[in-house]
Amino acid sequence: MRKMGFFLTSGILATLVPTTAQAKVTAPAGAKIFRLDGAGVTYAMGVDEKGYLQPLYWGAPLAAGDPLVSTDPVKTGDPVLVKAPGELSGFDPAGSVTLQEYPGQGEGLVNDPGIKTIFADGNRDLVLKYRSHSVRGETLIVELADIKRPLTVTLRYTIDPETGVLARSASVRNGDNRPVRVDQIASAVFTLPVGDDYRLHYLTGRHAAEWQKKDVAITPALTVLESRRGSTGHGNNPYFAIGREGVTSEEHGPVWYGALAWSGSFRISVGQDNLGRIRVMGGYNPYDFSWSLKPGETLDTPIFYAGYSNAGMGGASRTFHKFEVAHIMPGGEKARLRPVLYNSWEATAFDVTEAGQEALAEKAARIGVERFVVDDGWFGARNSDKAGLGDWTVNRTKFPNGMKPLIDKVHALGMDFGLWVEPEMVNVDSDLYRAHPDWVLNYTGRPRTEGRNQLVLNLARKDVRDHLLGVLDKLVSENDIAFLKWDYNRNWTEGGWPEMPVQDQQRVYVDYVRNLYHILSELRRRHPKLEIEGCSGGGGRVDLGILGLTDEVWPSDNTDPADRLMIQDGFTQAYPTSVMMAWVTDSPNWANTRTTSLDYRFLSSMQGGLGIGANLDKWQQEDFTTASKWVAAYKTIRQTVQRGQLYRIDPPSNDNASSATMYVSQDRRQGVMFQMLHSSMWRDNPTPNHPKGLDPSATYRVSVLGGGVLPDGVPARASGAYWMERGLRAPLKGDFVGTAFVFDVAG
Ligand code: GLA
Repeated sequence: MRKMGFFLTSGILATLVPTTAQAKVTAPAGAKIFRLDGAGVTYAMGVDEKGYLQPLYWGAPLAAGDPLVSTDPVKTGDPVLVKAPGELSGFDPAGSVTLQEYPGQGEGLVNDPGIKTIFADGNRDLVLKYRSHSVRGETLIVELADIKRPLTVTLRYTIDPETGVLARSASVRNGDNRPVRVDQIASAVFTLPVGDDYRLHYLTGRHAAEWQKKDVAITPALTVLESRRGSTGHGNNPYFAIGREGVTSEEHGPVWYGALAWSGSFRISVGQDNLGRIRVMGGYNPYDFSWSLKPGETLDTPIFYAGYSNAGMGGASRTFHKFEVAHIMPGGEKARLRPVLYNSWEATAFDVTEAGQEALAEKAARIGVERFVVDDGWFGARNSDKAGLGDWTVNRTKFPNGMKPLIDKVHALGMDFGLWVEPEMVNVDSDLYRAHPDWVLNYTGRPRTEGRNQLVLNLARKDVRDHLLGVLDKLVSENDIAFLKWDYNRNWTEGGWPEMPVQDQQRVYVDYVRNLYHILSELRRRHPKLEIEGCSGGGGRVDLGILGLTDEVWPSDNTDPADRLMIQDGFTQAYPTSVMMAWVTDSPNWANTRTTSLDYRFLSSMQGGLGIGANLDKWQQEDFTTASKWVAAYKTIRQTVQRGQLYRIDPPSNDNASSATMYVSQDRRQGVMFQMLHSSMWRDNPTPNHPKGLDPSATYRVSVLGGGVLPDGVPARASGAYWMERGLRAPLKGDFVGTAFVFDVAG
């Protein structure tokens, strides 16, 4: 992680003086308390008298000298601040009621463990206690060790001073002289105090229906968010947010949230423990997983990022977006804004030719497009999804002189050039598969189930990894390519790695993803100007792991502009607008046959990174005029939409006839409020939408994006306070219509 600073204190109460942004650790004899403070957040843990590391606090910032004691009663004057509880009953031994920061599976633990192991002699009891801690650079490291065996777990903590977002991870090391099997290992366990009013918010869906918001009560019945697919998946995103019933709303109340930086199978469980305390545990999915840890070997987990906000779901996502842009996205805050893109997939599908693409490029350039992307169908024998994947050479029937003439044409038209690839896959009908049938995930002698007529290459194999890196490096070196759309269009079925010793075969879940990250980061290192879009049949692989190596992602193959409003609303709970691409495509939409106007489609897509995926060959002159107007208008608000603060004024939902979303630039000099009407009802006066996030004392000029007359009664200029108090509304009527108001600081 880049650019992280933090401060940290540990010690007895009197020594807790967190006043600077420097790391500060004191660890006097006796109780050890570790405390991390970032903007708006305090996190604390401490060692009890038996040596367990107990979580003590996570939430709104505490004062420097505030007591940090365990929830088990500590007597006044007791030098022990963190108390180890005794047994509660014969059914609840001490080991099962002690709240632990990272418990091993042992000593009667009845909740999800941080780590579960089996030693070579069959011992499955693992009890982790504090051994040591240190501060290295900007990271607090706490080492836990089993009470008997030479197995250690190292916990890492970093807190961002600007946002209070924590980065946590764990490593297990086998100090024994025989292998130890790790059956389960979490990146982190988070704990909140006992309560019956917590609600879990999460994001779920399926292909072309991703990012649906759900929320459920947190009870002793665990809620498990997981993927068993080998990749992140469309099902449950590795993101959570927890609020309190009746207290937490869009702009108010506490929210604890987090996201796992991992693009493979994962598991996050959320529930009340046996004493009603809230636990969130996340890491590698133990399903079908184990890791035989050799003597001296260490296994690291991915990072689990987590934050707290007292400003509701909106505050949580704004804080998280800020962190993600600054610390996860390649280039950070200095990264380039997303160019307006054209992609030919919905227009041509596999019917890609040099002449056809050149004609589209000419039309795209006319409306102000900045990047032209050729999607699937340009390579190998790729005339349908039945053949060609794996053969990343230009199809000479479609492009007789290679890609250069088209690329030169695209450049001459003032755009940069991008190509679609799906490197991790192979069609059985391909030269690559014919040469290397052993390169796919498989079990010897078992069926190889195809998905979209393709198999998954086993990236965990070094030869496969090196081959793909070589092929992609060549492709980017030999062609002037600014952008790759990196797709991944199926889940794993038979996830075997038969070349490995049996006890090491399930490493495939980790080694595959690590090698994927290796290819992406090495490609970026060799081609620093190359930008990459992450795609997996839409939003099937969006997480903070892949986002650290890609410049944007494709949230869904569903490009219907009304559905898309909800997709975008869900996506931005967890991830920033700066990476969220959104295309204007044809109407009726392929996904649901809904018919919408070109204006409405633009207004929906302009709320993210604008792209165009329509068949421009079918457009009339008036469509080009409309599109040119919107593309030009988008460029005037792009910085605000992509890098501003997002306010959900009236979130889109199936029960809501209208919705409104607002973006405010970081310096608050510009705000843009989109109002979208799903369908008109009655003749009543609709309620106004109240802008948020403007500077109350600044004067703003208001205008209608793309030109147009202000509604009656709306003054041309007024203070931020006026707009936020008074609100405003466009007189929208009909179905699927919208508008956007732009607020620019006057003068
Ligand atoms: C996936 C992607 C689409 C398109 C096709 C091409 O479905 O999500 O955008 O690239 O593959 O085959």
